[in-house]
Amino acid sequence: METAVKVTVVYYSATGHVADIAREIAVTAEKAGAEVRLRRVAELAPREVVESQPAWAANAAATADIPLATVEDVVWADAVVMGSPTRFGNVAAQLKQFLDTLGGAWQRGELADKIYSGFTSTGSAHGGNESTLLALMHSFHHFGGIVVAPGFTHPDKFADGNPYGTAHHDGGGAVPVGDVTRNAARVQAERVVRLAGALTAATS
Ligand SMILES: Cc1cc2nc3c(=O)[nH]c(=O)nc-3n(C[C@H](O)[C@H](O)[C@H](O)COP(=O)(O)O)c2cc1C
Repeated sequence: METAVKVTVVYYSATGHVADIAREIAVTAEKAGAEVRLRRVAELAPREVVESQPAWAANAAATADIPLATVEDVVWADAVVMGSPTRFGNVAAQLKQFLDTLGGAWQRGELADKIYSGFTSTGSAHGGNESTLLALMHSFHHFGGIVVAPGFTHPDKFADGNPYGTAHHDGGGAVPVGDVTRNAARVQAERVVRLAGALTAATS
């Protein structure tokens, strides 16, 4: 019997947009036949700061049941899909902190030869979504990963317009994740599962 491809989706999200994309990717990967772990990384901001902002507090409550990511979740996977909100054109400190816990696994060669892919959300359309996705890829390259970008491989990618990864822009918090972003997330998840399946079949 064919073994299911193992996919770990790891994300940080303050106000829920990246969390929505993470769920879409996880559900789609599962539908495509993968065994999926959906994981959030630990919050680093003080509790009073989170609780002082309604959208941040609401997302923290809504996602409290999602397990925290561990190094083993990454080592376990054939494909790892990581998401972060754009912070000054870059990866959020919370996800970066998690990346920094992967040093031992990297040293043991446990991060290499996997598929990696990224997603993000920004406040504005040109607010740095591409620089955030490319910054995530810096780490993927160091891991010896195989970066799977969605490119313009499907008509839905021409609507979302970002070949580097799924990227939503929330219009300053006013625009929830909608069909354009969800369709792009599905294209990305299906592509990751398909290529991870081909890679594991070829190397096992
Ligand atoms: C400290 C901080 C820095 C941010 N920097 C950017 C930025 O450089 N460009 C941008 O378009 N949006 C920026 N944003 C907005 C977030 O990227 C955006 O609201 C995103 O959708 C939040 O995702 P989340 O809801 O998953 O937390 C920033 C937000 C914060 C709090």
